[in-house]
This record gives sequence, C-alpha cells and structure tokens, in this order.
Amino acid sequence: MPTDCKLSVQTSTNSQLNNQHTSDERPIGVFDSGIGGLSIMQCIAHQLHNENLIYVADTLHAPYGEKSTQFIQQRVNEIANWFIEKNTKAIVVACNTATVSAIDKLRENISIPVIGVEPAIKPAANLSKNKKVAILVTKATSESQRFLSLVNQYRNNSDVYIQPCPGLVELIEQDQKDSPNCKELLSSYLLPLLNKGVDTIVLGCTHYPLVKPMISDICGQNIMIMETALPVTEQLQRRLNSNQMLNNNKELGTAHFYSSKNCSAQQQLFSHIWQRPLLVNKFL
Ligand code: DGL
Repeated sequence: MPTDCKLSVQTSTNSQLNNQHTSDERPIGVFDSGIGGLSIMQCIAHQLHNENLIYVADTLHAPYGEKSTQFIQQRVNEIANWFIEKNTKAIVVACNTATVSAIDKLRENISIPVIGVEPAIKPAANLSKNKKVAILVTKATSESQRFLSLVNQYRNNSDVYIQPCPGLVELIEQDQKDSPNCKELLSSYLLPLLNKGVDTIVLGCTHYPLVKPMISDICGQNIMIMETALPVTEQLQRRLNSNQMLNNNKELGTAHFYSSKNCSAQQQLFSHIWQRPLLVNKFL
C-alpha cells in the first residue's frame, strides 16, 4: 500500500461524506498500462472500503510511455467503453501517461466522472527546502505539453528537473523490481539528480511507487519522495460525493482484476502486489 495512503487513515472524511441517503453500488473502473495503477487502487480500496472495484491492466500494450499519443488515446477509449459496458459509475485513469495523453478527449466522450493522476508538483515545490525538485516520468509524459504546462504553473520558483526513466516500467512488469538490474538503472537516473542537489523527488508514474524502497535506498533518508495515490483517492471521493454516487452499503466492496496479457503469468505478480491470492481474468 502506498505510504501516504496509510498515513491518512485517521484524517479520512468518510464519516462526514457517508451521511447521505442514496447508495450507488455500481463498480468503479480503475486502469493502467500494467500493474502500476494497483498502487492507486490499493489506496482506494483502503479509504473507500465499501466500493466495488474493477481493475484493468493493459499489459499487452505496456509500456504506454514509449507509445504515440494516438495509440494511447485509442487504448484508453477501448478500455473506457468496456468499463461503460460493465456499468461502472466512474473511471480512474491510474496512469500519468494516459492522463496527460488522453483524459481530455475521454472526458469529451463520456458522461460519468473521470479522475486522472497528476504528479505532486505543487506540494513538492512548496515543501522543497532548497527549491530543487526532480520529477521521474515516462518518456511520453516528459514530452507532453499538458505536463510541461503543469510544471510551469506549479514550480513556484523551484528548479525542476524532469527525468524520463525508460526501461523502468518494463523491469517492474517483469517482476524485477528488486533486481540488481533495476538498482543499476534507477541509480543511473537518480545519482545525477542528487549531484544537482535535489531534496524532493516526485514519482510521476504510477509504477514508480512499486520501487519506492529502492529509490529511498539509493537516495538516503534526507530526500522527500512524493506520491499521488491519496490525492487521487480523495478527488474520487469528492466527485462521488458531489454526484451522490457513494456506496453506503456497510459490506466490504469487491475487487475484480483483468489483464490484456496471458493471465496465468499475471496472477502471481498481481497477488504479490495486492498481498493476497487473486484471480486475474482476460481483458478483451
Ligand atoms: N503507470 C503508467 C504511468 O503512470 C504508465 C507507464 C507506462 O506504461 O509506460 O505513467
């Protein structure tokens, strides 16, 4: 579970929000190019524990970060249409790359709430003591105009170093997140940033919280590492609340998992991250 999500349990506003009378038991769709979005879905399951969730990993087409905008938009539309057929009440784009590449178009096409993931640039720029912030992202995100505008809007006079991390998502998808290869690749991205003096690192791809322990190990205790699982969950909660779509059923919600890649190979990987055995179904 993402660390920032754990910390927030006591401050959750569930009790204030759950006093409405309507109850919407339709599921929420959450998707990513692979297992990265599970870091967001864990936080949602933890904070909104009576919601029913469906997760789609488009693993067959990962990494999105190396694909064209047009390709990503096409995949996102296909997944969203499938969610609509499943009668989902909201969609969480648990992927920074898909958010910057496709969320605007998606919102034009569908009427249910669509929640995206944006890197925590604003809090990072405010918290950085020496005003030197790094953002780790995919190649596609680093080239996105939407992302670059966000950085400029919230940099708050900080020096912001945008670091694309090609190869990292692939290693995580191959369950090599604890391998020497992964450490070597991460070090090659992080050490130059540390030499520039950054004191705050933003994880701008939902796969990267899965290697947060290794990032901390390389960077040491004094570097702040910012994730986005909690703000995304809170935004989802606000949207569901304002649309009277919260599920007020007292029972624990369900979670169903789908992947576009061979599912037996995915089973172990998903179960490992979700920390309990689960079934991964074939997506399309
Ligand atoms: N997890 C995704 C993100 O947040 C996508 C990574 C990829 O497929 O390249 O950007």
